[in-house]
Amino acid sequence: MIIESLRGRDLLTLQDLEPEEIMGLVRLSAELKRDRRLFSGRLSGRSIAMIFEKPSTRTRVSLDVAVSELGGRPIYLRFDELQLGRGETIADTARVLSRYVDLITARVRRHDDLIELARWADKPVVNALSDLDHPLQTLADLFTIWERFGRIQGVKVAWVGDGNNVCNSILIGATKLGAHISIACPRGYEPNKKYLEWAMENSRKSGSKVEVVEDPEEAVKDADVVMTDVFVSMGMEAERERRMQDFLPRYQVSGKLMRLAKPGAIFMHPLPAKRGEEVSPEVIDGEWSAVWDQAENRLHTAKAVLLSILG
Ligand code: CP
Ligand code: NVA
Repeated sequence: MIIESLRGRDLLTLQDLEPEEIMGLVRLSAELKRDRRLFSGRLSGRSIAMIFEKPSTRTRVSLDVAVSELGGRPIYLRFDELQLGRGETIADTARVLSRYVDLITARVRRHDDLIELARWADKPVVNALSDLDHPLQTLADLFTIWERFGRIQGVKVAWVGDGNNVCNSILIGATKLGAHISIACPRGYEPNKKYLEWAMENSRKSGSKVEVVEDPEEAVKDADVVMTDVFVSMGMEAERERRMQDFLPRYQVSGKLMRLAKPGAIFMHPLPAKRGEEVSPEVIDGEWSAVWDQAENRLHTAKAVLLSILG
């Protein structure tokens, strides 16, 4: 079932969605996964602009294939090949693109640019990753958890490593749906303060337990899911050396750490991964790993989002 209440809306962060809307997207993703041809042709005659200011494999290809399988036309736009790269304003770009296309997705360096884009665009804007948030990733993560455990509420997620954009995003997603989340990071690498405050505040409604600790072993205790992400996100390359010192070896998700989680626990990672940094090969390539299903699910959740927003 298409989520009618999302029609015409932006998706910049899952904070803006009701828990039922998020669960609706998860269920719709499952239907779309069962039948790849479901709703084919539904977006016929529609065009989607996909602006990328940073590299991408999964987000770019899953959105492109999602739009194509639904009968629409994806238009990939490299930021530096648009006039944006030469100083045209976001406001002007948004107003012009809105005259051509039905929806705009954007991967940007600064989350504020997405807000500006959404402010000036007459068409819905979807966040394809910013420095602050990655809602499309989290929808796929929640869907993967639901597939594996048959539920999301009450599942314990342990995040080990950098409290980055993907961490902020799963923090919101888990809190919306009543999953528990324990984040282990070195001091100074905590998730965004406003996101954390939001999660703490809203956890009371959903019954989620939210905590930030320093010790990875404490975080993974009783965890059903252990998640991590790269220690050096796109655009942070200059901090690489310092980050390696701050994260390694303590924050690597190793077999030893996975064995401290609940029996049957799974490992998740948005990818791309750096084996030997945030995760050991034994974990990402071993039985714990759910990363390939998680990556596949980006396609089904992208379709669910596009169908619901475009109706
Ligand atoms: N997980 C994710 O967003 O991957 P890409 O950077 O390849 O799109
Ligand atoms: N935190 C990573 C996620 C990539 C999908 C980054 O922003 O580079």
